[in-house]
Amino acid sequence: MTIQQVDYAGDLLLTRIGQLHDRPGKAPLCDAWLHLRDGLVVGLGEGSPNVSGIATRQVDGGIIIPAPVDGHTHLLFGGDRCDEFASRARGESYEQRLAAGGGIHATVAATAAASDEELLSDALQRIERMRALGTGAVEVKSGYGLSLAAERRLLRLLAELRQAASLPVFPTLLVHLPPPDAAVQQLVDTFCAELIPEAAALGFGFDVFIEQGAFSGRDAEPMLHCAADLGMRIHVHADQLSASGASSLAAAYRARSAEHLEYASDADITAMAEAGVTANLLPGAWLQTGCGRRPPVAQLRAAGVAMAIATDLNPGSSYVYDTVLAAALGISAFGLSCDEALYAITEAPARLLGAAELGHLGHGARAAVLWMPLPDPSALFQRLGAEREGLVFRSEEPNG
Ligand code: NIG
Ligand code: FE
Repeated sequence: MTIQQVDYAGDLLLTRIGQLHDRPGKAPLCDAWLHLRDGLVVGLGEGSPNVSGIATRQVDGGIIIPAPVDGHTHLLFGGDRCDEFASRARGESYEQRLAAGGGIHATVAATAAASDEELLSDALQRIERMRALGTGAVEVKSGYGLSLAAERRLLRLLAELRQAASLPVFPTLLVHLPPPDAAVQQLVDTFCAELIPEAAALGFGFDVFIEQGAFSGRDAEPMLHCAADLGMRIHVHADQLSASGASSLAAAYRARSAEHLEYASDADITAMAEAGVTANLLPGAWLQTGCGRRPPVAQLRAAGVAMAIATDLNPGSSYVYDTVLAAALGISAFGLSCDEALYAITEAPARLLGAAELGHLGHGARAAVLWMPLPDPSALFQRLGAEREGLVFRSEEPNG
């Protein structure tokens, strides 16, 4: 009773699908069929298929959705922070631990101490766990290096991870915190001159953590400018633990997404709506940092801001592998509808990653196809912790 991976080559016709969610969040096709060819959707419809004479699998009910896309993870890391989790349960805050030199700094030290082989094999194993839960593609950030040399190492490892992974991987340079005692202005200049162009040349995205104790908006601006000039896909960790206007800054630099957003203001939301920035909501981090303020979902919805949801998989604020669980939390804790949540883990993250061929199953889509024996996607989000059963149909070189 797990998710099985079904590799196929050439043509494959799936028939008698209970609900085919070809455009997540919109009404599904019922009693549907789906024609795949070498990883591409080449036909779909309701009732009897208009093709025959090819390999056919009658699935008899259930739902088909595009395999979820996780648009925000930090799964390349060394060490463990369960002690921090336990002490948070006794009342220490995430910010207190960070300010005392722990938190992200603890992972930076453990990452530096780990060998390349260890870091890569642990990251690959995390991707395998996500795949076993049905996830079909992941974004992975650097960020536990901090210094130029250590971040360079993580960029190299991310490039290797991408080659070795069994899923499409979208790598991102995350400028996370200034190293302790760093001269921030000098660090920013060096990153603009060297690190960010190197990441751009590798085809990576760019992300920066704007927060008290991390980078200020003023520190971040030259780096955002540089990333924008280089045409990188931009994301910003914005307004997570306090209000800083970082989401408005994300809008000013035409970021693809702003992450977290618990403290985003009405003005931030208006700026995001005007600039077409997606809100990337991370309920795992909200949960594991203590269920504080929730992101302003009703205001984002009213302003027409697209909403994505991701795990934020990392050892400190969100040790969550399961993209579907993140969506379930998005419904039960943040107030998304089931249709919004399905869109938030498929088409919305695919778009913010610039992968319009993923996250839907319309003509020409390249997404892996996830079938589950459930009556409706709402059942998927309701059944917390149940072992997930289903089939993933895939036929392509993930990062080729
Ligand atoms: O998205 N907020 C900053 N970065 C991560 C947490 C990283 C960590 O605590 O290790 C986040 O929550
Ligand atoms: Fe994050």
